[in-house]
Amino acid sequence: MLSAVSRPYIDASVPVLREHGLAITTHFYREMFAARPELTQLFNMGNQANGSQQQSLASAVFAYAANIDRADALAPVVERIVHKHAAVGITPAHYPIVGRHLLGAIGAVLGEAATPPLLAAWDEAYWLLAGELIAAEARLYQRTGVTAGQLFPVRVVAREAQGDAVVSLTLAAADGQPLPDFLPGQYISVEAKLADGRRQLRQYSLSGERGLPTWRISVKREDGDAAAPAGTVSHWLHQHAQPGAALAVSAPFGDFVPKLTGSKPLALLSAGIGITPMVSVLRTLALENPQRPVLFAHAARNGRLHAHRADLAWAREHMPNLQIHISYEAPEAGDVAGRDYDHAGTMPVDALLAAENGQRFLDGNFYLCGPIGFMQAQRHALISAGVPVAHIDREVFGPDLLDHLL
Ligand SMILES: Cc1cc2nc3c(=O)[nH]c(=O)nc-3n(C[C@H](O)[C@H](O)[C@H](O)COP(=O)(O)OP(=O)(O)OC[C@H]3O[C@@H](n4cnc5c(N)ncnc54)[C@H](O)[C@@H]3O)c2cc1C
Ligand code: HEM
Repeated sequence: MLSAVSRPYIDASVPVLREHGLAITTHFYREMFAARPELTQLFNMGNQANGSQQQSLASAVFAYAANIDRADALAPVVERIVHKHAAVGITPAHYPIVGRHLLGAIGAVLGEAATPPLLAAWDEAYWLLAGELIAAEARLYQRTGVTAGQLFPVRVVAREAQGDAVVSLTLAAADGQPLPDFLPGQYISVEAKLADGRRQLRQYSLSGERGLPTWRISVKREDGDAAAPAGTVSHWLHQHAQPGAALAVSAPFGDFVPKLTGSKPLALLSAGIGITPMVSVLRTLALENPQRPVLFAHAARNGRLHAHRADLAWAREHMPNLQIHISYEAPEAGDVAGRDYDHAGTMPVDALLAAENGQRFLDGNFYLCGPIGFMQAQRHALISAGVPVAHIDREVFGPDLLDHLL
């Protein structure tokens, strides 16, 4: 618990830090990477370049301080960070480095306002959270049976195009042993060794069913445009991950893990590449609990960008209570309504739930994965339709911005 001495300093400075948050986090990363360039191998430098990470790590410390009495709000946030940290191999030895640079950044940006008691209070708040993360990460490493940063050598044993932009890769352990099992919805980190010597990790949700000796991931090629360069690792994988290629990947981690047992209705709502964890859940349910009532709603731009069609057709044959609904935002000439898709436009979740066969899902659990705008819109529609917030969970394919806590 935060000490009574520190408490008023934290309470008083939360709004100040919120206002200067971006300046502090930008300063923090710049100084930390200058002092410890090896850390650029651990962080996702794409998220640094596009700005999304700046609002994440340090903001989490501020959000923690602002919500210090709300264990209910913080627990899922901490859980998500712990899994992400384990997937990239954070160790206790990293924490003093981040703590030092974070405190240094607060001091540099706030100037004279950063009095010694204020900095001491933030040091205490940082270490309270760090202690919680370090302990939870140690437990997770132990439970998973890996050491921090441990990667498995694997080989690509199959490669399959999923429409124009996505490729599925089946991975087998290089030593021929079965790969460890996972919970559908979880992801692995994949290591890329780039031509210029940089090392980068990216997370990819497992897209196959559990219980196999191999893992499958599905990678969307992130093409650039005038405003943004092409994605580094997704391009590297599309080019390098040919059958036979060697890769190194982490154990499976992640806390987005729909409950698969029972008969409660389940709604899996995805857009674009957000389909990957949902396909893993669906394939596993088809094999382990095929009677489960499932609404699988997916939104794609058009037929060329609609991945995993064959998996959905396969699941339909095994699951009598599966309802599939496909929306194409902008169908093309070759896309046939009723055959390839059910609805032109964005996913009409309110209409789906209002329909006779959709009403039973109102009492069920909802899982969302896709671009942030998609998830915000669907979450809003679900809440308006009467779905309790506690029945909605989501996976973000990037740093969670924690905007609801700040
Ligand atoms: C839990 C989780 C699960 C995921 N699962 C999947 C999955 O199943 N399949 C999948 O394909 N992806 C998945 N992702 C996303 C994946 O991890 C990568 O983020 C994605 O492949 C892009 O990585 P990249 O290296 O190709 O792009 P990066 O090089 O990291 O670039 C990311 C984005 O930033 C933009 N950018 C880069 N530099 C700049 C700049 N200077 N200015 C402006 N914009 C810039 C790029 O254009 C690109 O759009 C998942 C992510 C998470 C966190
Ligand atoms: C109290 C201390 C810390 C807090 C509050 C914190 C918070 C966070 C948060 C919020 C994320 C994003 C999680 C998500 O995906 O939504 C994250 C990811 C990450 N953190 Fe931490 N972190 C802390 C310490 C550290 C330390 C000590 C390191 C190591 C130097 C570290 C390295 C990373 C890395 C490499 C990622 C992966 C994300 C990326 O680069 O995109 N963090 N952390």
